[in-house]
Amino acid sequence: MKRWTIKELYAQKPVGEEVVVKGWLRSQRKTKTFNFIILNDGSSQGDLQIIADAELPNYEQFSKCGTGSSFAITGKVVESQGKQPIELHATNVEIYGNVGEDYPLQKKGTSMEFLREIAHLRPRTNTFGAVFRIRHHLAQATHKFFDEKGFFYVNTPIVTAMDAEGAGELFRVSTLDPANPPKNDKGEIDWSEDYFGKQAYLCVTGQLEGEAFATALGSIYTFGPTFRSENSNTPRHLAEFWMIEPEVAFADLDDIAQLGADYIQYMIKYAMEKCPEELEFLNRFIDKGLKSKLESVANAPFKKITYTEAVEILQNCKKKFEYKVEWGADLQTEHERFLTDEHFNGPVIVTDYPRDIKAFYMKQNEDGKTVRAMDILVPGVGEIIGGSQREENYDKLVERMNEMGMEEDLYDWFLDLRRHGTVPHSGFGLGFERAVMYITGMSNIRDVIPFHRTPNHVEF
Ligand code: 4AD
Ligand code: MG
Repeated sequence: MKRWTIKELYAQKPVGEEVVVKGWLRSQRKTKTFNFIILNDGSSQGDLQIIADAELPNYEQFSKCGTGSSFAITGKVVESQGKQPIELHATNVEIYGNVGEDYPLQKKGTSMEFLREIAHLRPRTNTFGAVFRIRHHLAQATHKFFDEKGFFYVNTPIVTAMDAEGAGELFRVSTLDPANPPKNDKGEIDWSEDYFGKQAYLCVTGQLEGEAFATALGSIYTFGPTFRSENSNTPRHLAEFWMIEPEVAFADLDDIAQLGADYIQYMIKYAMEKCPEELEFLNRFIDKGLKSKLESVANAPFKKITYTEAVEILQNCKKKFEYKVEWGADLQTEHERFLTDEHFNGPVIVTDYPRDIKAFYMKQNEDGKTVRAMDILVPGVGEIIGGSQREENYDKLVERMNEMGMEEDLYDWFLDLRRHGTVPHSGFGLGFERAVMYITGMSNIRDVIPFHRTPNHVEF
């Protein structure tokens, strides 16, 4: 007999039909003559209620099974008087596996910290089921959004020789024996003996290779894992995270800022359409204001200010910050959060940052001090998007690279994009986990990625 998912059962309500459902026991409650079994199969937020009569031959066995046990249950779909429109009247209960006595998810109200230690089991909880179904739909929304706009999906390399962001937060990729590496005449490690013949790293971005494709196919986006060894033990930093990076030929900073806002709003609307039950659940148990926040952000235009205006707002407000606000310094999380959570009470686009705190490839403004950069900040999270118009002028780009002491050899191919048929172009990177945090209301980035990698943590 065909297995039905619980999601399909609620969608089609095949009253009178005999079906099989398979899933994990949420709870069972015994009466004198039957058991109420509550089963969830992960297909949706919804549990199925099943009535299993005491006459069933293995009643004693399955009645003893604990929360988390796996069952295949055959039965007839009947209308229900309960909360759900239908329930199942069981004719057969097959036990796949009972749980051991030490099953860690039996108790209610376990902490997020504890659940991180059992990240292989936490997807079975209502909260994580909701988060990861939403994460799936946001990935689908991403591909749909860009595809509908005529963008091409490009897979950029994960292993690279370039520190494109210049922040020195690279994980080395090497096959040399760390105990006995080959040395050159100067006694330094001879990287020419390494697998790639030079030093190699995990990518911090796919942008530079993305630019090669944008200056050929017009509009492209990447969606892949990126790696940063920054030593940031915060609720919004991961060592391994996923980034979506659109890159658009002939687009300027305003175009790309609008694209970023449209993309965030598209994801929010997509989640509201595809995951109403998940959002309802998270709104009840995780973040009470989640649904009203999403509804208000979905349609309102994003505020837009320059970095210089942001600094003025921060310097003139009454709030005491831990880090001093000074023109030229990067905005700290507390500053970003003040702008989004208190001053604007919504997302804000900040443009034209000081050139000295930004990457080499950003287009320089006429003032000689700022670059055509933009960050999109959202309440509760802070920076979710970082992007810019790119420096398309060969001479200016080379000058900046020299100023920053970059190895020109490594970037020679990148300079070709400016030597041959250069065009104005712009792009941004959206941190996928930060978007998932924002849209689910989860407050720690470790809880929106299946298995998190952070300093001193590479479990599972
Ligand atoms: O602002 P970032 O560093 O920009 C770039 O990497 C550009 N190459 C993007 C581009 O223009 N194509 O990173 C982009 C986004 C940030 O806004 C943030 O959301 C996320 O990536 N991000 C992180 N997310 C989780 N953990 C980290 N350690 C992150 N670092 C950046
Ligand atoms: Mg950034």
